[in-house]
Amino acid sequence: MRKWAKCLDEIGLRKGFIYESIVVTVSREGKPNFAPMGVRRLNNENLSLKIFKETKTLKNLLETYEATVNFIWDVELFYLCVFEKKKVLKDKVCSSLMVKPPRLKDAGVYIESSVRSHREMKNSRVEVVLAVKHVKAEKTFPKLLCRCDYAVIESLIHVTRIPVFLKKRNFKKAKDLASLIEHYSSLTQRVCPGSTHEKIMLNILKRTKKYLNNFDN
Ligand SMILES: Cc1cc2nc3c(=O)[nH]c(=O)nc-3n(C[C@H](O)[C@H](O)[C@H](O)COP(=O)(O)O)c2cc1C
Repeated sequence: MRKWAKCLDEIGLRKGFIYESIVVTVSREGKPNFAPMGVRRLNNENLSLKIFKETKTLKNLLETYEATVNFIWDVELFYLCVFEKKKVLKDKVCSSLMVKPPRLKDAGVYIESSVRSHREMKNSRVEVVLAVKHVKAEKTFPKLLCRCDYAVIESLIHVTRIPVFLKKRNFKKAKDLASLIEHYSSLTQRVCPGSTHEKIMLNILKRTKKYLNNFDN
């Protein structure tokens, strides 16, 4: 099992750090599901996901026990995997080597894994420990740094948390997140005007307002 230590080091997955990924799981019927999830490397063979209880990802993992963890620098795909999963079409995935869930074709790095254990946490989440079964990395060019990528990822995380806080009637936290999203939306208008990022941010802002309005009424 320690054979994975070198691979995990080489792809830059540092112990204890959280990295954003797209986790692909399958239902009992074999239907794939895609969801952005933070993943932490626990040691040389295990990864940890902390997953909200209501998610399809958790349901699938507890029913079919396998996942691919895909690392990709494409914020539009992160957006599609939250709000328009049907658009993550068949041409974006291909078969994995060791597990049933497919992997994303364009992922520079991906990990195939199976569930080792899970435990309930406080704050409506379950920690799932995954055992690494296969790691693959493509050779890629260095990524260029743009603030808009971070703005979209931060806002997507915030917008998925707003309904959770509203359900718990923690309005202050929900409104704080909404104002951060407004800030990031105006940032994309300045830093990358006319881009897909700007359009995604306007859409996230619209959804944020809808969540808050639905709750007010
Ligand atoms: C970058 C990013 C990271 C996320 N990380 C997590 C996470 O670690 N755990 C979690 O439960 N949800 C996380 N989310 C929210 C889920 O992706 C979101 O709730 C999704 O709709 C769940 O999909 P599912 O029900 O198909 O599993 C994250 C969202 C984004 C955009």
